Amino acid sequence: MGKSDIHLVSGDDEVEHQFRAVMRRLAGGVTIITAGRDEDITGMTVTSLTSLSASPPRLLVSVNRQASSFARIARYGVFGVNILGSDQQALAGRFSDGSLKGHERFDGIRWSAGAAGVPLLGDTLATIECKVEEIIERHSHGIIIGSLLSFELSRELSGLVYWNGQYIRITHDFDLDLLAEISIPLAHVR
Ligand SMILES: Cc1cc2nc3c(=O)[nH]c(=O)nc-3n(C[C@H](O)[C@H](O)[C@H](O)COP(=O)(O)O)c2cc1C
Repeated sequence: MGKSDIHLVSGDDEVEHQFRAVMRRLAGGVTIITAGRDEDITGMTVTSLTSLSASPPRLLVSVNRQASSFARIARYGVFGVNILGSDQQALAGRFSDGSLKGHERFDGIRWSAGAAGVPLLGDTLATIECKVEEIIERHSHGIIIGSLLSFELSRELSGLVYWNGQYIRITHDFDLDLLAEISIPLAHVR
């Protein structure tokens, strides 16, 4: 990086603006977190989901404490993770659309309740049901640590990422042989 690429930050608003510009350079896998049960369901698009550890299997997601999902995840102690495929950009739009509330976001799409009661979306690359292990409230967000209760994988691998303010489709597709190669038990493949 040349000196001309280095920008010094000044006031708080400017720092926030520049921080957002920096973070836009980071590509993030697009996931929908689902929460609640029965009629009281909601969900939200996130890119902050990441693996915390494989042994034991734990993941974490950073959720704004004002988001409708946050209170439901805290109340019910479980949540769903729905990893979107390359053709599911419309779902990412629905679940980040503030004009659609809770249950409305699920209208017209395929979903079913998992064993723990959380809504799980159909046709995604993978779904995971998680139990909340810990919520660390920090600044505007809560870092939610989830332990894996169950998961399902589809045969598709083509993914969706968000980068530089836009959705990018990763369309490389492999087959079940690759899943076998990386030792995913076929019992979990739908
Ligand atoms: C690509 C993308 C990624 C997002 N990632 C996050 C995230 O990691 N954490 C978060 O709190 N909100 C994230 N959001 C914003 C929420 O999806 C959005 O605010 C949502 O409407 C919140 O749900 P609510 O309207 O039910 O409160 C993201 C939005 C988009 C479009």
